[in-house]
Amino acid sequence: MAITVPKIKAMKGKEKISMITAYDYTSARIADEAGIDIILVGDSLAMVMQGKSSTIPVTVDEVIYHAKMVRQGVKNALIVVDMPFMSYQADYVEAVRNAGRILKETGCDAVKLEGGREFVPTINNIIAAGIPVMGHLGLTPQSINIFGSYKARGKEPEEAKKIKEDAKFLAEVGVFALVLESVPKQLAKEITESISIPTIGIGAGMHTDGQVLVYHDMLGLFDDFKPKFVKRYAHLKKDAIEGIKNYISEVKEGKFPTDEHSYD
Ligand code: KIV
Repeated sequence: MAITVPKIKAMKGKEKISMITAYDYTSARIADEAGIDIILVGDSLAMVMQGKSSTIPVTVDEVIYHAKMVRQGVKNALIVVDMPFMSYQADYVEAVRNAGRILKETGCDAVKLEGGREFVPTINNIIAAGIPVMGHLGLTPQSINIFGSYKARGKEPEEAKKIKEDAKFLAEVGVFALVLESVPKQLAKEITESISIPTIGIGAGMHTDGQVLVYHDMLGLFDDFKPKFVKRYAHLKKDAIEGIKNYISEVKEGKFPTDEHSYD
């Protein structure tokens, strides 16, 4: 059965929410068949699809391209699409137009955007247009040039207080769920207990209402670096290299193809 925004909201306190990124038909289909609750077409596609070093360069056209492919592979999961850097920051009219384009052109279900109280008017207008919004606080990678590193956020009391307050602002304006990235587990616990919408953690400990990981990280496809919070549930890059090496040897040695793979 298709998962909706109200179903995700109703899962808080009853059932943990599972979320994973995907960027194309095949990976989305695999995640959906496995029974994932939410698929995120993340702007992390910059790293794992495009080989870039940050999410900053991703465009609205690029997320739309990837989200359309993901849509084709999904029957049940809720599909959330990241709003890229500078697609919502400059003014809210542009933000509503871009969020609308993303939903209308891809057939996906919701958008996600990074930031706290400063985006309350923008989020209000996007929701008023009928577009569900997921929030994202803590380490917000689109602000890497302000932060200067991908280290955990909210370790100092002042920043922790700001993140906690921002979570309340976002819940009040109507975001349906909130990603907490790279924050101390105690802060994530306090936020989870203080708001009525589900929190979804990545590097935020075990007390959030759900978890999200990047597809290529958790399946061992991407090994340029491994953040502390990533658990590898498979080693697909290793398996792929082994498979391709076997193929190369068999081609070189004339062992592939055999009659089994040939037409008469
Ligand atoms: O783009 C992404 O993959 C994300 C997750 C890290 C939540 O925003």
